[in-house]
Amino acid sequence: PKGPIVVQGAMPIEAEHFAQRLDNPKEQQIGGWRFWSGTVDGYPVVVSETLKGMSNAAAATAIAATQFHPVAIINQGTAGGHDPALNVYDIVLGKYSVNLGAFKTPHKLKGEGSDSLQWKPMDLLASKGSAGEDKTPHTIRKFPGDAQLLAVADSVKSTYTRGKVVDGVIGSADLWNSELDRISHFHTTYQTSAEEMETASAAQTAAAFAIPFVGIRVLSNNITNDGKYDPQTGLACQDYVYQVVKAYVAKL
Ligand code: 5AD
Repeated sequence: PKGPIVVQGAMPIEAEHFAQRLDNPKEQQIGGWRFWSGTVDGYPVVVSETLKGMSNAAAATAIAATQFHPVAIINQGTAGGHDPALNVYDIVLGKYSVNLGAFKTPHKLKGEGSDSLQWKPMDLLASKGSAGEDKTPHTIRKFPGDAQLLAVADSVKSTYTRGKVVDGVIGSADLWNSELDRISHFHTTYQTSAEEMETASAAQTAAAFAIPFVGIRVLSNNITNDGKYDPQTGLACQDYVYQVVKAYVAKL
């Protein structure tokens, strides 16, 4: 028996549209999270509404892992652009994701202020000891996208007509960054294409269960090039991910 493909979306507008495309969907609530189990082309697919933010994404992913034993998890939804070359409606296939909320600050005295551009990455998975007292500098932890999921997503990109589909880096944190210098710092230092609040957390949890994972994010806004927020982008992303799921099912 093969497990389902789990498709995650944080907000109702990022999950319900996909759930409506399932055949014979059955809704179920586990804790604070909604799941819809159905099929796509006869193969089981579970749509998971993770709710927003890193903690919700980790919890929903752990529940999905233990309840459904998925063969793959796709985290999809909206994001804010860090790359001025990307426009609203463009889609980023996450070759990897990073946690943009895990940093160590330099030591500064009272009155010396705070400058987040000086913060260094903190890899919470680097050791079992205190990350704060670790004297060796950390490099930012990269949560890789599964090669086969990325290849399948790439293979259907011509079906997407609302914008480009590119490989990139997804940065996640419980933050909404609107400081252009900070966004440009993330883009140049960690190569982030876009930011949102779930992918790295879901990726970390999926990796702990050894479940193939990929993040697929549409830009709903990009303040680096005046790209205005458009929540409808979330629907376009689900339509694209539906094509990815069909192509993945065809190969199973
Ligand atoms: N910054 C952070 N999160 C964003 N999201 C969309 N755009 C951004 C952005 N610029 C996503 C997050 C979260 C919700 C607010 O939308 O993933 O779920």
